[in-house]
Amino acid sequence: MGNNTPVFFIRDGIKFPDFIHSQKRLPGTHLRDADMQWDFWTLSPESAHQVTWLMGDRGLPASWREMQGYGSHTYQWINAEGERFWVKYHFKSNQGVKTMSGDQAEELAGSDADFYIRDLQDNIAEGNFPSWELHVQVMPYEDAKGYRFNPFDLTKVWPHSDYPLIHVGTMELNKNPENYFAQIEQATFAPSNFVPGIAASPDKMLQARIFSYADAHRYRVGTNHAQIPVNQPKNQVNNYSQDGAGRYHFNAPSVPVYAPTPSTALQPLSRLPRPAAGRTTASSRSPHTPCTPRTATSARPAPCTARCSTTAPRPACWTPSPVRWAA
Ligand code: HEM
Repeated sequence: MGNNTPVFFIRDGIKFPDFIHSQKRLPGTHLRDADMQWDFWTLSPESAHQVTWLMGDRGLPASWREMQGYGSHTYQWINAEGERFWVKYHFKSNQGVKTMSGDQAEELAGSDADFYIRDLQDNIAEGNFPSWELHVQVMPYEDAKGYRFNPFDLTKVWPHSDYPLIHVGTMELNKNPENYFAQIEQATFAPSNFVPGIAASPDKMLQARIFSYADAHRYRVGTNHAQIPVNQPKNQVNNYSQDGAGRYHFNAPSVPVYAPTPSTALQPLSRLPRPAAGRTTASSRSPHTPCTPRTATSARPAPCTARCSTTAPRPACWTPSPVRWAA
């Protein structure tokens, strides 16, 4: 999740709450206040780069299609050999970059306050799909130690002359949401969601975002926000964290809720068929495989070999036994 500028107002997450308060409304009048904004900016000189951008000719995109996108932060890439690199993401608009003046924006705000959403919605609906070319700047791991400025400082860009753009691929927006609440309002994007091979950097702003987005999601959407269809992963979730408000999918009662367990023979859940989107109960999940019954002679419960059917009576294959902790 990024921005249409490669830099930001601050370089340390500890200042973010004050920055946001200063850009919002006065608590007494609930009105925007230019003094609040400019107090923060002028007394935080590291904001000068972004403020210049915002208040300059490039500050107001003509549409969401006609602006660049940036990851802004420095991220980390780790290849199959374990080599590490520092990486910045750049999305270059194939529609070009166009901006509007303050006067145009003022008029639009009155005549069509939904202009940006409408423009994107209409273009996608008409098949005029906007797209962006993804490029990365890649800095070898060791370079960061001696680079002429802190490469993890979000108020600065890496000159392209030092780290040229490398083309990666194309991103196209070719589908509108079908339900704004279900698919947009409930979406929870978090910079802490990394796939293997991508990781964080020492950028202090990124470090702050890593905990704060997930925190916001637990509060805004709920503990189990990741189970909502728009957020759920393509693969089944295979950890032992569960329950809490809005528990949406659940395992069969015989599936252990901790590790390690004696049932190491459990089939990895990732190999099991995934429930179809929209299913809300375990009873509609597959496979409906009854658990291996516990035999009278076995010292330990026989492990389930698959998820148990939750429509069947509670199977006897798993009885939690007292845990003995090592001293
Ligand atoms: C320390 C710095 C920052 C903190 C603590 C922070 C925190 C947050 C939080 C808590 C949200 C609400 C998330 C949600 O409810 O889904 C949010 C929204 C957002 N932030 Fe940040 N943010 C920071 C910096 C940035 C930066 C540097 C960028 C861009 C590069 C950025 C881009 C966004 C965007 C695009 C949204 C809107 C997401 C949406 O509507 O789904 N933020 N931020």
